[in-house]
Amino acid sequence: MTEAITKKNNVTWFNGYVSREDRETLHGHKGAVIWFTGLSASGKSTIAHLVEKELHQQGCSTYALDGDNVRHGLCSDLVFTPEDRAENIRRIGEMVKLFVDTGIIVLSAFISPYRKDRQKLRSLFHDGQFLEIYVDCPSETCSKRDQKGLYAKAKAGVIKEFTGISAPYEPPEQPDLVIRAYKQDAKAAAEHVVYLIKQRNIIKAD
Ligand SMILES: Nc1ncnc2c1ncn2[C@@H]1O[C@H](COP(=O)(O)OP(=O)(O)OP(=O)(O)O)[C@@H](O)[C@H]1O
Ligand SMILES: [Mg+2]
Repeated sequence: MTEAITKKNNVTWFNGYVSREDRETLHGHKGAVIWFTGLSASGKSTIAHLVEKELHQQGCSTYALDGDNVRHGLCSDLVFTPEDRAENIRRIGEMVKLFVDTGIIVLSAFISPYRKDRQKLRSLFHDGQFLEIYVDCPSETCSKRDQKGLYAKAKAGVIKEFTGISAPYEPPEQPDLVIRAYKQDAKAAAEHVVYLIKQRNIIKAD
């Protein structure tokens, strides 16, 4: 009689011969994720990509992960209910964990509105591997910046469950860094993040 393959009886973790520490030595820095959270159009992607560019120029191995891109593929079956948002972040978290295990630095830009989902994310990583950056910007300012026209559609009721308008955003209580994106430009914000990455010894200071 054939036996169904289930997690409980037939799936075993295989420990490889190359460790994360070995890969980190090869890269010359630690693996980590810099997790940007904030309202739509607050500036997450802009800042994350500027940080990636700077780190890349400094010889780091990096990858920027953007919310919209992931929703095209890995999470294309999910909508914007609280349950699906939680599942969206859970899948991304598991994916990012693999990236961090490769020893690279991930810059991720997801609204990730729920505190509980972000706390679960943090629990996936070792101390110092997960830095939470709160991109703080009032929804009125975001609405003015919004190139995608999402706020106008949300206010008109065309888009339902839009964070900051018709769905909640829960700011982090103890983020590793707050960027006041309503008064600091994206370049200065990116410099702050790179400084933090050095301060936390993810990459070596100059
Ligand atoms: N600190 C800033 N000051 C002024 N404008 C900014 C700042 N950061 C970003 N912007 C501008 O705001 C707009 C939205 O930024 P961005 O696309 O990075 O937001 P986002 O948080 O990634 O939004 P979404 O969640 O919808 O992807 C862009 O036109 C960008 O140039
Ligand atoms: Mg974005």
